[in-house]
Amino acid sequence: MTNSPLPRIRTPESLRSARWFGPADLRSFGHRSRAMQMGWSEEDWKGKPIIGILNTWSDINPCHQHFRARVEDVKRGVLQAGGFPVELPALALPENYMKPTTMLYRNLLAMETEEQIRSLPIDGVVLMGGCDKTGPALLLGAMSAGVPAIFLPAGPMLRGNWNGKVLGSGSDSWKYWDELRAGKITAEDWTGVEQGIARSHGTCMTMGTASTMTAIIEALGFTLPGFSSVPAPDSNHPRLSAATGRRIVEMVWEDLVPTRIATEAACRNAVAVAMAMGCSTNALIHLIAMGRRAGHTGFGLDDFERLSHSVPVIGNVRPSGTTYLMEDFYYAGGIRALMERIRGHLDTTALTCTGRSVGENIAGAKVTNDDVIRPLDNPIYGEGALAVLHGNLAPDGCVIKPSAMEERFLRHSGPALVFDDYPSMKKAVEDENLDVTPDHVLVLRNAGPQGGPGMPEWGMLPMPRALLKQGHRDMLRLSDARMSGTSYGACVLHVSPESYIGGPLALLQTGDIIEIDVAARSINMRVPEEELARRRAAWVAPPPRFERGYGWMFNRHIRQAHEGCDFDFLKTEFGAPIGEPAIY
Ligand code: FES
Repeated sequence: MTNSPLPRIRTPESLRSARWFGPADLRSFGHRSRAMQMGWSEEDWKGKPIIGILNTWSDINPCHQHFRARVEDVKRGVLQAGGFPVELPALALPENYMKPTTMLYRNLLAMETEEQIRSLPIDGVVLMGGCDKTGPALLLGAMSAGVPAIFLPAGPMLRGNWNGKVLGSGSDSWKYWDELRAGKITAEDWTGVEQGIARSHGTCMTMGTASTMTAIIEALGFTLPGFSSVPAPDSNHPRLSAATGRRIVEMVWEDLVPTRIATEAACRNAVAVAMAMGCSTNALIHLIAMGRRAGHTGFGLDDFERLSHSVPVIGNVRPSGTTYLMEDFYYAGGIRALMERIRGHLDTTALTCTGRSVGENIAGAKVTNDDVIRPLDNPIYGEGALAVLHGNLAPDGCVIKPSAMEERFLRHSGPALVFDDYPSMKKAVEDENLDVTPDHVLVLRNAGPQGGPGMPEWGMLPMPRALLKQGHRDMLRLSDARMSGTSYGACVLHVSPESYIGGPLALLQTGDIIEIDVAARSINMRVPEEELARRRAAWVAPPPRFERGYGWMFNRHIRQAHEGCDFDFLKTEFGAPIGEPAIY
């Protein structure tokens, strides 16, 4: 769908890039002569939109291995539409390899994106991402840079396979690891799982953070319709990549900048889609950051909470669902069909990158398998995927994923078993004599934005071996960490403010009773206020995690989880988006 109804606003003379290449002065002489050094000539750039292609490919990001080929498809599309493509390598943020966590670097890629666009002769950008943090980071930067932008999702990998059993990214790693620890599978079985769980390029194929965020970016309006559901190895993927290249050229002529797309209505549409998809808990943090960058400073947890009561989970994809994966979701109709099914919860007038409305983009999309994309009256969970809780443990909120946990923990009270750091907790849970019962609440603190540092995905705290041996596979867990979107279980996450800066979680002690009531959206520790005051007075702030470098800057400027973990100095209230650079 590229026949946009939007009028062309830009003229060749009004392109940003014309300021670099047009004038008959010494500076532009330098730009032109150096372009010629690269083998380009006037026919390449004159009067044409220059399209930056921000490519997060790297040798060590398995999810983006096909981006080397896809970028050529995008370039082909740009050239077909009369633009000139320029590839710009960008930080790859490989989820599996980057330590302590890619979340520490999401904002670094966002800054790199913004500044590459701002500082170079770029009229529009294609953002190539998919692995968890890359999508939100690229969008955050592009929103602040303010030139027309379109997103190219890496697409999910194929289903995993082990001895004919379907394997899901992440989810089956956790599951079979616990089976190994419980002595239910052998080391040889475990090796088989290792060899079969990632069978092609592409992102995790469960409804993890990657699939959640690419769906959210499509719902926001930044991806060609249906693209976020297309598996990476499918031949539709290169075709849509070329179409993305064609479309961005038109978007430049139409001056279709991000703020025209990422309206408040679009952000709410993205929340509704996230809820219906059975989204990753990471959606809260990234979407709040994106909404606020787009200028909606009040956008936050309340918006998620409101929609969580009305939008049911109809995407039957693991880990909220029990059986299916993203490949099945694609064959069942994909994101367009899901959005068509929840049309009543969407503002269908919202403008998208196609130049058309959400309603026009999804019109006629059909569900071909009612078990994968359920009817509204037969959801896999009657409310949205996430629930936001408040209480004396989390005055600024925390989150739980009721659609992917054992129901008995929706209302629960039990004694806390508290750990101050991940290594000591990891060691303790391996102890078969650990004094723990199924009613205990396993607690990890100092794992938030500053404490982690970078809020690692530790929140699916490992089940104590002693409970696994008794046959238990879930228990209530609590932390200020995040968890992978492929994780599951009764895990309370993102406790805000975090314990490392003295949030109430810092005051909790082993043996204190914790009470959770998801229906009432509450979480509290049953400790008298006078006792909490005594503990607060005795609390000593830990030393900062970093004394120099990027980490030092991160710790000084990172906001809390309920604010999206953006840097305070990047907030839109400071004057972005669109800071046009002077050319010196
Ligand atoms: Fe890249 Fe999961 S590791 S999407």
